[in-house]
Amino acid sequence: MSACKLVVANWKMHGSLESCHQWMQQMSTYDLSGCDVALCAPSVYLTTLVQAAQGTPVRIGAEDVNENAQGAFTGEISAGMLADIGCHLVIVGHSERRTMYGDTDERVALKAQAALSCALAPIVCVGETLQERQAGQTMEVVTSQLQAVIDLIGVQGLSCAVLAYEPVWAIGTGLSATPEQAQEVHAALRAFVAKYDAQVADQLRILYGGSVKPGNAAELFAQPDIDGGLIGGASLKAEDFWGICQAAKNV
Ligand code: PGA
Repeated sequence: MSACKLVVANWKMHGSLESCHQWMQQMSTYDLSGCDVALCAPSVYLTTLVQAAQGTPVRIGAEDVNENAQGAFTGEISAGMLADIGCHLVIVGHSERRTMYGDTDERVALKAQAALSCALAPIVCVGETLQERQAGQTMEVVTSQLQAVIDLIGVQGLSCAVLAYEPVWAIGTGLSATPEQAQEVHAALRAFVAKYDAQVADQLRILYGGSVKPGNAAELFAQPDIDGGLIGGASLKAEDFWGICQAAKNV
């Protein structure tokens, strides 16, 4: 496990030019040493954010990427373009993309591969629905989502990637997984990777996402297999996000 936690903001379809500047300005006043921090934001703001993040430790990333290198894909953005403007990472397979925009396990794997080919770290999201959890299928669902990625990029590919466990029922609902529920899945995911390569598994950062707030971050981050968080709603205000970073620093 990585010594230092990683806390990633996921703004989703929120923000404005003004909020980009304000958020970065406020973050620049905090002491972010002791944790790694990134912000994934809508594509139109990425150039602004890359510039505003200069001189701060905050890394900038996208919320999605097309799996192709280039071509006739109107409206899409390639990994090469994201790297070109100074991004360092990209979320792939967020459950909102899977459910609303038809991203299959195979497509998510292709996106992870595209990101890696441009030296972007993919944040690969996996997670079960409430129905799947209630049917006892959590491990089966998350490991098969991960399996598709390993099948394509190989376990070594994961050494440049980040994994995020985001139970769908916890995203944006205010209903976070308990630290024990999250730990159980994180440990299972790490054990799954360890069957391929123990060192990759040990060094893989597995983030938890789903209603993380300043008030519950510390107990989640205290779990041995939780290496940080992917933060939606609570990342929009720099103050709240900082509260979560503080919890990551203090573990
Ligand atoms: P949330 O979203 O923190 O608002 O639950 C997390 C995510 O979707 O990444």
